[in-house]
Amino acid sequence: MKTNRLALVALAGVLLPSAALIAQQDDSPSKNLALTPPMGWNSWNKFACNVSEDMIKNMADAVVKSGMKDAGYQYVNIDDCWQVSRDAQGNIVVDPQRFPHGMKAVGDYIHSLGLKFGVYSDAGSKTCAGRPGGLGHEYQDAIQYAAWGVDYLKYDWCHSTTQDAKASYANIRAALDAAGRPIVLSICEWGTAKPWLWGKDVGGNLWRTTGDIKDRWGGTEKWPDGTCCSNGMLAILDMQVGLQSYAGPGHWNDPDMLEVGNGGMTDIEYRSHFSLWAILAAPLIAGNDLRDMRPEIHDILTNKEVIAVNQDALGREGERVWKNGDLEVWAKQLKDGSRAVVLLNRGSAEQEISVNWEDLGYPDHLNASVRDLWQHKELGKFAGKFSARVGSHGVVMVTVRP
Ligand code: GLA
Repeated sequence: MKTNRLALVALAGVLLPSAALIAQQDDSPSKNLALTPPMGWNSWNKFACNVSEDMIKNMADAVVKSGMKDAGYQYVNIDDCWQVSRDAQGNIVVDPQRFPHGMKAVGDYIHSLGLKFGVYSDAGSKTCAGRPGGLGHEYQDAIQYAAWGVDYLKYDWCHSTTQDAKASYANIRAALDAAGRPIVLSICEWGTAKPWLWGKDVGGNLWRTTGDIKDRWGGTEKWPDGTCCSNGMLAILDMQVGLQSYAGPGHWNDPDMLEVGNGGMTDIEYRSHFSLWAILAAPLIAGNDLRDMRPEIHDILTNKEVIAVNQDALGREGERVWKNGDLEVWAKQLKDGSRAVVLLNRGSAEQEISVNWEDLGYPDHLNASVRDLWQHKELGKFAGKFSARVGSHGVVMVTVRP
């Protein structure tokens, strides 16, 4: 019976993506994953292809020792470049120099710390760094990942030529489910085919909405091959406007991983980056070297009040509710009826920014308690609106509780 069902799912995945969708939705092992935005660490932003068993294990240790695990970070994800070739049977071959004990040993170590293990592959014939991709090997790879104890798969979109994005991601989800292990599926399609419209239907738990983040405040630049783009933090932020209704428990818009601590922005800018990703209900995947964080960076990444906004069980993505030039107000409804609010100053001089209760969906006459999530301080009761001076490139982040 079970074998028949597996075979059927497998066949459906190959021949009929729409049937694979139906199979995914009933009692699939991936049903209850990522009910709040995934939190963890990923190797790419800091280390690119320079990954190894030792470094990943050290980083997993650092997740625990730094207090990141206590703050909610869970996944330790190896991005591109762990794989070198395929053997005669088509099995993926792990770099024997960099991962001398294989991937299961890495996964076992990560699990022994109470953390979860993620890997990366690609829906096309090669990964973005030119390593073997998953195309044509989806079921074989999924069985391998399950045997290694993989909990999270980031699946990229390089070398996908004429493939249909929705069908390709449905296929890998069906393969992962057939392998029988609950695995978070991170769709990394860069927003080209609007994955917010279909990512949830194909069992994706998160999907990139844009090209790659760059460790920089703003601006956009083309990739060296002329395709689009490397984006500063604010460029990515702007591309999230209007996508909020597609996010919810189990399925999130992904504005790419965090750059906090990588050195290209000031601490004030990193605090803004983190606050905005929190209010967007974005996955919080740190991308810095956790082994030697400055205290300022540690305090940003582990601010439990800001993280609580991100992880709120209602699962609403925040949205921009007001904008005037460089000044913006972002707001997110929380499960208890209160609102999280970020006052953002993109400009070069300090400015006063106000949030009106009406922009939060509250009546004007309401008295509400305001708490500052960076100062960790109750600011008092306010009627109608709350105003604050916000420094250049900074935020003030508060909750407003009627
Ligand atoms: C693409 C992705 C990045 C990273 C690299 C790895 O650019 O968008 O996040 O995974 O590939 O090569």
